[in-house]
Amino acid sequence: GRVIALVPAAGRGERLGEGIPKAFVTLCGVSMLRLAVDGLIESGVVDRVVVIVPADRIDSVRAELPEGVDVVAGGAERTDSVRAGIAAAEDADLLLVHDAARALTPPSLIARVVAELRAGRDAVVPALPVSDTIKTVDLLGAVTGTPDRSELRAVQTPQGFTADLLRRAYAAADSLATDDAGLVERIGGRVRTIVGDPMAFKITTPLDLALARALANDEPI
Ligand code: C5P
Repeated sequence: GRVIALVPAAGRGERLGEGIPKAFVTLCGVSMLRLAVDGLIESGVVDRVVVIVPADRIDSVRAELPEGVDVVAGGAERTDSVRAGIAAAEDADLLLVHDAARALTPPSLIARVVAELRAGRDAVVPALPVSDTIKTVDLLGAVTGTPDRSELRAVQTPQGFTADLLRRAYAAADSLATDDAGLVERIGGRVRTIVGDPMAFKITTPLDLALARALANDEPI
């Protein structure tokens, strides 16, 4: 089965506060997008990479990324961007969706996701226990509940799917989702977690960026 990795990198990254789209912020002089793509290639389990970027960056991204990586324009929301990637990956048997913002994801995690798919799972997500207690709240900030922490997981990417299942999930998607597995769940798909990796954390806030830069300086990547 042919494995195609989709890399949504068309977000504005406002929470990062760097003034440029997040995927183009650099660690040690290399963009997060480039680092994420390099990790996918290094995993040795990905046959083709499709990156999804803001329309005005297509040419500069083509110049920065290795030969053979496909570059398409994204949309207003992450769901729109992934949808554009799916459309560019007609020849996939297995699809990975991997956030550019998880720039330090170890290639070994990517290989583990694909191994689970090859072992027969239809939908696989890396997940870690949460360290904070999580509350639900109403619009005014009043606490409405405290889910049992032992049942909660923070999920990461790459999330892996049989191409058929992810295509069906997106065909049925009528609203937005913050992850791809969520859309698969909505059509009744069974999603399996595997143990995630702390290094696959999403670089979202200035604190995350400081951590990522410190890690990238310490380790040649
Ligand atoms: O905003 P969030 O941190 O959830 O974004 C996760 C990933 O989705 C990032 O890599 C971001 O660039 C991407 N994204 C996108 N198109 C959007 C919004 C986010 O490709 N419209």
